[in-house]
Amino acid sequence: MTTKLAVFASGTGTNFVAIADAITANQLDAEIKVLVVDKINAPVVTRAKERNIPIFHLKYKDYDTKELAEASLVTELNKYQIELIALAGFMRIITPTLLAAYPNKIINIHPSLLPAFPGRHGIDDAFTAKVPQTGVTIHYVDSGIDSGSVIAQQVVPIEQTDTLVSLEAKIHAVEHVLYPTTLAQLINHN
Ligand code: GAR
Repeated sequence: MTTKLAVFASGTGTNFVAIADAITANQLDAEIKVLVVDKINAPVVTRAKERNIPIFHLKYKDYDTKELAEASLVTELNKYQIELIALAGFMRIITPTLLAAYPNKIINIHPSLLPAFPGRHGIDDAFTAKVPQTGVTIHYVDSGIDSGSVIAQQVVPIEQTDTLVSLEAKIHAVEHVLYPTTLAQLINHN
């Protein structure tokens, strides 16, 4: 059975595209039923429109609390009978409201070897720290920042010749393979 997937994103959307392309290439037995964004001007919105994927803009500021915003999101996700949620550069903390509705069904990608360098600047922070290696982590989401149990990790060595730009390119290249592959493994084991 094709898994009904929701992707949440806030930015460029290259991981959203990698997931969508893997589905098109029959590497992932899923359908992106909806893209959830917190910023309607994010470039990822254009990428979803190009693929005729419905977009849901969650306007957090329209709600008194984050929990109420997520409650309305759960209602929206229920309309699509969403089975799995993939965060792809979604820069918001998920609260217990959404976590309770989708226990162990919310996955995140982060551009470091967690628990090292969580937060918004995982690549930059690892580069600045001059560690010999960093990488990419796919993990289950809990109510912390880039915490939750690890599903898959891939190391990316930091070479002496690397710049921040070259390291970003290497990390993103790994992300675009590791995320669809890991989602496919999760889907196939369910
Ligand atoms: C990705 O590098 C992802 O790992 C990172 O945001 C980027 C989104 O890029 N996520 C985090 O830092 C989560 N803390 P994209 O919009 O091109 O997919």
